[in-house]
Amino acid sequence: MSILIKNGLVITTDGATNADIFIEKETIKRIGPHLGLKADNIIEASGKLVIPGGVDVHTHLSLPVGNVITSDDFETGTRAAAFGGTTTIIDFAQQVKGHSLREALDARLKEAKKSVIDYGLHMIIVDLPEQRITEMDEMIKRGVTSFKLFTAYPDRLMVDDDTILRALRQTKKNGGLVCVHAEDSVMIESLVGKALMEGKTEPKYHAATRPAEAEVKAVKHIIQLARHADAPVYFVHISCSESLEYIRQAQSKGQPVYAETCPQYLFTSTEDLDRPNFEDAKYVFTPPPREKWNQEKLWNSLQNNSLQVVSTDHCPFNFRGEKESGYSNFTNIPNGAPGIENRLQLLFNFGVVGGKISTNRWVEIISTMPAKLFGLYPKKGTIAIGSDADIVIWNPATEHTISASTHHMKVDYSLYEGWRVQGLAEIVVSRGDIIVENHTWKGKPSRGKFCTRELFQFRRSFNPCM
Ligand code: URP
Ligand code: ZN
Ligand code: ZN
Repeated sequence: MSILIKNGLVITTDGATNADIFIEKETIKRIGPHLGLKADNIIEASGKLVIPGGVDVHTHLSLPVGNVITSDDFETGTRAAAFGGTTTIIDFAQQVKGHSLREALDARLKEAKKSVIDYGLHMIIVDLPEQRITEMDEMIKRGVTSFKLFTAYPDRLMVDDDTILRALRQTKKNGGLVCVHAEDSVMIESLVGKALMEGKTEPKYHAATRPAEAEVKAVKHIIQLARHADAPVYFVHISCSESLEYIRQAQSKGQPVYAETCPQYLFTSTEDLDRPNFEDAKYVFTPPPREKWNQEKLWNSLQNNSLQVVSTDHCPFNFRGEKESGYSNFTNIPNGAPGIENRLQLLFNFGVVGGKISTNRWVEIISTMPAKLFGLYPKKGTIAIGSDADIVIWNPATEHTISASTHHMKVDYSLYEGWRVQGLAEIVVSRGDIIVENHTWKGKPSRGKFCTRELFQFRRSFNPCM
């Protein structure tokens, strides 16, 4: 099978060129003006942007939380991702306390087989006694080169400083990358206890009991642990201005600190917690929405590269029956929000069309940097000879209304219901297969492949502030 994409404007992080792209089987074989080659499929892309497929490094498909499980599994979630222009995700395998990392990876690989786009896995570590430390090296050999640790959720996921330090020290040796969910658990548990005692049970108290200070305190602390261990660290879902200040400060001293934010922090705020009819429960995710003024600081950080990535933290629970189970107590509302399908659209509309970032920077934060930081580059995250043919033909003029009634995510609400956005994926190519064409699904079931990832390359040579 071969494909020729003709006359599109090819966007990478460092340029925009009118060029044709020739794909043979799964790989980009030639790029240049007017290639004039014959192909099994010709895609006319004049007037369109041709971009590398999106890479979303933070998703939770089929994630059990208490009595519920996220409503998208690897099949529905990856299909929705593809409709939005994402062609690779990194989800998580989660160690069970007292069990090996290997068992967790083997089990998760089975579940992930249903994926229709390519996928990698991070390993969530929940306990790391001395005798398990070398299991991290084994993960790296199997292509799982990043590890996630939590400073919150004491009943399920939280680890202590000793564990975090062990993991950081081991990644210094083995070249892996530690990712951290940073929120101070002591502060949160104290605030939750107080709120419940005072009868404050509505959804907005989820946000009130997880204040920005809890995130900032943990971010600051983890930066110090990483500095002490002389290891790089990546912060997931950074939501507020003050965290950014500490991240920026560390980066400016040359510390390899990296961070992502997510659309829900750029586009929702505490104002959404005043919605009537329990609709505020839709905005119960962690960290919670912040005061609106933080959004501008997040955009500034995307502009100046103290934030390198926008991922979704796609963690969908239905409003009916699932979010509703916390009607009389916010702590019973499953935390998380959907978004895997809307990331490129929102960032294009508000970022590029809105004049905040260039098309090159857009491609960088939604595809190239996540691929680089997580060892997928240059197979993923760029349009280059030899790269996987993961390509999106993006129509920059198409207008689209985001709605739960038309989206492909298996969830009954959208955080962005009724929002009109400009720019849409028209054709999506994944490893040389056309999987979405004119908003119609064309891909075969279970066609996604597990991506064994390389080591993170930038420890010393890459400083986000430069
Ligand atoms: O609310 C969220 N984000 N749930 C998913 C788990 C996490 O903290 O990333
Ligand atoms: Zn998290
Ligand atoms: Zn998450």
